[in-house]
Amino acid sequence: MILDVGAAQEIEILIRAKYPILYVVSWEEQRVEQALQRIGVELSRTVYSWTLTAGFKPSPSTREPINKLPAELEALAQIHEGPERSIFLLKDFHPYMKDYRVVRLLRDLAAQLRGKATTMVIMGPTLNLPSDLEKDITVVDFGLPGPEEIEAILDQAIDSVRDNPKVNAKVEPALRERLIQSAQGLTLEEVESVFARSLVEKRAFDLEAILDEKKGIIRKTGLLEFYPAMDRIKDVGGMELLKEWLDRRAKSFTQEAKAFGLPSPRGILLLGVQGCGKSLLAKAVAAEWNLPMLKLDVGRIFGSLVGQSEENIRKAIKIAESVAPCVLWADELEKGFAGVGGSGVSDSGTTARVFATFLTWMQEKTAPVFLIATANDVSALPPEMLRKGRFDEIFFVDLPDREERVSIFGIHLRKRDRDPANFDLEALATATRGFSGAEIEQVIVGALFTAFDAGREVSQEDMLEEAKAVVPLSVMMKEEIGHLREWAEMRTRPSSEQHGD
Ligand SMILES: Nc1ncnc2c1ncn2[C@@H]1O[C@H](COP(=O)(O)OP(=O)(O)OP(=O)(O)O)[C@@H](O)[C@H]1O
Ligand SMILES: [Mg+2]
Repeated sequence: MILDVGAAQEIEILIRAKYPILYVVSWEEQRVEQALQRIGVELSRTVYSWTLTAGFKPSPSTREPINKLPAELEALAQIHEGPERSIFLLKDFHPYMKDYRVVRLLRDLAAQLRGKATTMVIMGPTLNLPSDLEKDITVVDFGLPGPEEIEAILDQAIDSVRDNPKVNAKVEPALRERLIQSAQGLTLEEVESVFARSLVEKRAFDLEAILDEKKGIIRKTGLLEFYPAMDRIKDVGGMELLKEWLDRRAKSFTQEAKAFGLPSPRGILLLGVQGCGKSLLAKAVAAEWNLPMLKLDVGRIFGSLVGQSEENIRKAIKIAESVAPCVLWADELEKGFAGVGGSGVSDSGTTARVFATFLTWMQEKTAPVFLIATANDVSALPPEMLRKGRFDEIFFVDLPDREERVSIFGIHLRKRDRDPANFDLEALATATRGFSGAEIEQVIVGALFTAFDAGREVSQEDMLEEAKAVVPLSVMMKEEIGHLREWAEMRTRPSSEQHGD
């Protein structure tokens, strides 16, 4: 849950309790500053706000700045000499916290301010705390606006057009609730701008327009993407056990299930051979369950510029929770760990921390976000990922057996408007032993090309010819697949009962 009235309250409590230095994680400077101003009034403290370019506003001291002292050290000097009953907000300070002189001065300041009615508040979008400072600085995560704040913005927006006859600013209670819900996961400024834009362009609060805008904003983060759910479970051949498992949980996100005392499922990991339908199934779950689906760009999150990644993962998690209940799809999870190595030890601390944040979230999340992760290279996955409590289950998706190949042929023939009854599916299944679902699809597509080229309808013969020409991955990667199966046997649940070829 994102309730950041809570964060402001937490800050107030810490300031009252005379904690010397707080670190507020947020990229919304205005919102944090406003919250501090309110707290300042409440506790009769003066708020001094510092930026790199303007220094302190208002200035806490009357003396001239010490010549040649770098701005960040000058700021600390001013706090050191500053008046009591103050709140010093430092906005651009976080990049300097790697400097050993800054670390030293902060430690001294922490000792000096402890128990005094003066608090220093450093804010930044990312948390990069040198370990020497961990004991001296208290971290507060200032979340995105919660429902109350969004409602206040909504009321302001309604007020702003009250006297404008061209705009229909009527908001029934049901619409109100949905507007507030749809604006969650956005920053305060973004909420203001989606409401304003809807009023200008649609002359009303248009839920669709707001959701579209939100999709755009989410896309712009580059971390998550709304994924239109098109495939259905019936488009996936085989995987009967996995489908059964999912079916039993299809209603688990409803109020009814909650009232019954069921916990929301956390998620599954689909592990397996390439081209056997892992991604396909992941996409189908959201459609089947009627939930929105967000795709997580794993490579971006884990592999992005140093310093950005931690902010990214927090933001992605918050957005996903704000859309909940939803399905969060992390495709090709192992790609995020390139360079992490099988040991889970990262060469860059950032990847490890991002990874830890993600793991903690998986373990502790209470919001109904169903995570579906897929992977085909287990050796690249850190072992912590696979431990109990992270996923509900780890399913192994193997090459389709004979029966499953029959059903995959049927699915893809129908998809291309061919009647499976016109083909001998059993014979095709025999001819495609060791083929993946993707390769079976290729056989059909190849046969269609041949037939089209020859100017006739596609035949059983075309298919058999095509199948002969394909060397399946299972032949080329026999050994790898063998290892994977061996590994999976001990640690995963099969997605189907293999009845043999
Ligand atoms: N079990 C299946 N039933 C129906 N179609 C399938 C099946 N498996 C694969 N296909 C077809 O092959 C395509 C590729 O499969 P998909 O991308 O889902 O495989 P994957 O397991 O995610 O592979 P990778 O490990 O390479 O990501 C699917 O879009 C679908 O058209
Ligand atoms: Mg895939």
